Amino acid sequence: MKVLVVGGGGREHALIKKIKESPKVTQIACCPGNGGISYDAVCYPVSAVDTPAVVELARKIKADFVVVAPDDPLVAGMVDALNAAGFKTFGPNKAAAIIEGSKVYSKNLMQKYNIPTAEYKVFNNPEQAYAYIKEKNEFPAVIKADGLALGKGVIIAENLEEAEAGIHEIMEDKIFGESGNNIVVEEFLTGPEVSVLAFTDGKCVKPMVSSMDHKRALDGDKGLNTGGMGTVSPNPYYTDEIAAECMEKIFLPTIKAMKKEGRTFKGCLYFGLMLTQKGPKVIEYNCRFGDPETQVVLPRLKTDIIDIFEAVNNETLSDLSIEWSDEACACVVLASGGYPKSYKKGFEISGLVNGQANGVVVYHAGTAVENGKLVTSGGRVFGVTALGKNLKEALDKAYSAADKINFDGKHYRKDIGARALKAVN
Ligand code: AMP
Ligand code: GLY
Repeated sequence: MKVLVVGGGGREHALIKKIKESPKVTQIACCPGNGGISYDAVCYPVSAVDTPAVVELARKIKADFVVVAPDDPLVAGMVDALNAAGFKTFGPNKAAAIIEGSKVYSKNLMQKYNIPTAEYKVFNNPEQAYAYIKEKNEFPAVIKADGLALGKGVIIAENLEEAEAGIHEIMEDKIFGESGNNIVVEEFLTGPEVSVLAFTDGKCVKPMVSSMDHKRALDGDKGLNTGGMGTVSPNPYYTDEIAAECMEKIFLPTIKAMKKEGRTFKGCLYFGLMLTQKGPKVIEYNCRFGDPETQVVLPRLKTDIIDIFEAVNNETLSDLSIEWSDEACACVVLASGGYPKSYKKGFEISGLVNGQANGVVVYHAGTAVENGKLVTSGGRVFGVTALGKNLKEALDKAYSAADKINFDGKHYRKDIGARALKAVN
């Protein structure tokens, strides 16, 4: 079987390493991929958002299966185009991907089907949004751009001035373009956050093992929001009891709601949850594997991922039993100096040990091979990942490998998993 993976970050590298384990797979292709992915798959210089070019590539290489990993091509309907051209795919179609593509859509869906989430109001007019926040006078206030915003569309305003500035940037300066035509203003929730990725064929939902992301750039959850600076799995706050509650009140109702709305979701649905005093609530849905959640979840998967992709495609997921290892997994992201703001690229990388010795694997997120040398080429450069018999062991191994890798400006958090470790002990 020839599998094409669309995307080129750490998440895609983790998917490709897992796909490579399948005895059914003879060849893996990736577009555009990156420096590290090129050791595991044949990379083609085709943009992950260029739907006609991806369909053409799938034809050219005679792909048997195409996995679309990033949010933007999913929301734009790449899966629909691939299916129309006769390809088997993993990933939701455009109608279903709206669950991530529009926060207004997902909030209204949750309200309609009684799925627990933060209370909210939608605005298409900046003055009305501002007047509402002023009258409510409850801070922090959470302001979200409706559409995709590279993971940066959420503003937690501590006071009225910050709220006004945020609304202005999103709705008038249009820093996220058309994504800011509408905004959601919602209640600020508190509690531990949990990421749960789930396989679903639209009828049945099989959650993967849980994880915890670390979104802020700096230690102690300080600094700007990023795509994610590190992850651990399992998330110790996510007990079996909470998992059962989430299944009953959130996961199944969401799958059923999407089906009822004529937007059957097939693929990986990401539930971003907050465990509040009043029970688990949905912070956000993503229509895809999380990054860097995938890097700590997939190493624990024991079942052939191709069997899962095919079961989702054929809508026979309920017949498949999915097995997970009991080990813990930790991922430490090494980022370029300046990320998530502007950063320089092209720095030579040293200290990288090849292979998967001792349960350590280095997923490449932003690397390129230039003149035979591996150099940095993105904000997040590596996800240094390790399995261990417990979280402490996984973290020790990941940090010891992370310390050895060097490039100019290398920046990483030293406290990935610290909160999770406290919760375990
Ligand atoms: P998102 O891009 O939707 O994942 O939001 C980024 C981060 O903002 C989340 O991981 C939360 O930490 C925070 N956040 C989003 N919505 C809320 C909320 N209603 N209350 C508190 N924090 C939130
Ligand atoms: N790590 C969060 C996300 O993938 O959106």
